Amino acid sequence: MKTPIVTIVVAMLLAVPTWADEKEEHHAPRPLTAAEAAAGKPLYLRECSGCHGERGNGAGPAADFVDPRPRDFTKGPFKFRTTESGKPPATADILRTIEHGIPGTAMPSFAFLTDDERTKIAAYILKRPPR
Ligand code: HEC
Repeated sequence: MKTPIVTIVVAMLLAVPTWADEKEEHHAPRPLTAAEAAAGKPLYLRECSGCHGERGNGAGPAADFVDPRPRDFTKGPFKFRTTESGKPPATADILRTIEHGIPGTAMPSFAFLTDDERTKIAAYILKRPPR
């Protein structure tokens, strides 16, 4: 135990890249965050759950009165998307649907919400947090 300080310095140098990696992973390119999804929940419940259901299963109180029925987000498949079949829709697809609605169906346009609100709702739908 001649130079314990060297051991400590080496340990620190080894540790730094590990922290850096963790940080990197945390900031991985992921457009929508868990915080946005959480913030989207009350907005979803207020604006969307009447049709799409509180749990996103397409069984809201109004669901029986519209044809086609509201989408069941827990099952998919999403129809209006630019991604390949079997893949989840792109965020942009969901945002487009929310902003413009789906003409010819009961799905209304939510252009009256702010971009920020629509983004949070999209995050909520796409992440489907545990409850
Ligand atoms: C008045 C009922 C109603 C309300 C309220 C409503 N939706 Fe819809 N939504 C529908 C119906 C009906 C469809 C299915 C249209 C179809 O099958 O072509 C739909 C489809 C969708 C889709 C398309 C999924 C796909 O297949 O690509 C998305 C996304 C969506 N709704 C999101 C929302 C969001 C987010 C809200 C709240 C901001 C909302 N909807 C509120 C009735 C509603």
